[in-house]
Amino acid sequence: MNWKWLSLVVCLVVAACGGKTESKNEEEYVANSATDTGQPAAVDPVALGEALVKQNDCNTCHHKTNTLIGPAHTAVAQKYEFTEANVKLLAEKITKGGSGVWGQIPMAAHLGLSQDDAEAMARYVLSLDGEKEH
Ligand code: HEC
Repeated sequence: MNWKWLSLVVCLVVAACGGKTESKNEEEYVANSATDTGQPAAVDPVALGEALVKQNDCNTCHHKTNTLIGPAHTAVAQKYEFTEANVKLLAEKITKGGSGVWGQIPMAAHLGLSQDDAEAMARYVLSLDGEKEH
């Protein structure tokens, strides 16, 4: 029993003297506790959306800042405010496709996408509004 306590004390002393290592552990702790809320807080939906846009065929028709077949994603971000309603609206457009907002060329439907993935991509696109300030 005493040995257990002793080793615990030794561990604490080592950890306390760890300096940098200790603060890194604290960061990890914060990141881990964020996932405990049930929210996927550790995964940034905007970063996830960016990855999904790259994985899918979006860049065939869209460029981040230039108009291709479809509007530049920054232009979309400037047109719509980054609100939950617009995330849903654009997610629906991404999954179901459609035309008439930017011209007569239709946006391709992506019926295989999950709602979560489509919303993550919508968040990524809407997040690009800030680019004009840089
Ligand atoms: C075949 C070409 C094509 C592909 C592939 C494509 N888009 Fe589009 N996208 C368009 C066109 C064209 C429009 C403009 C539609 C309109 O005027 O309503 C558009 C519009 C959009 C809009 C704005 C919608 C609106 O109502 O303002 C978003 C957001 C968008 N695309 C995201 C994506 C994402 C994310 C992907 C990949 C999953 C993707 N697009 C793949 C052609 C494409």
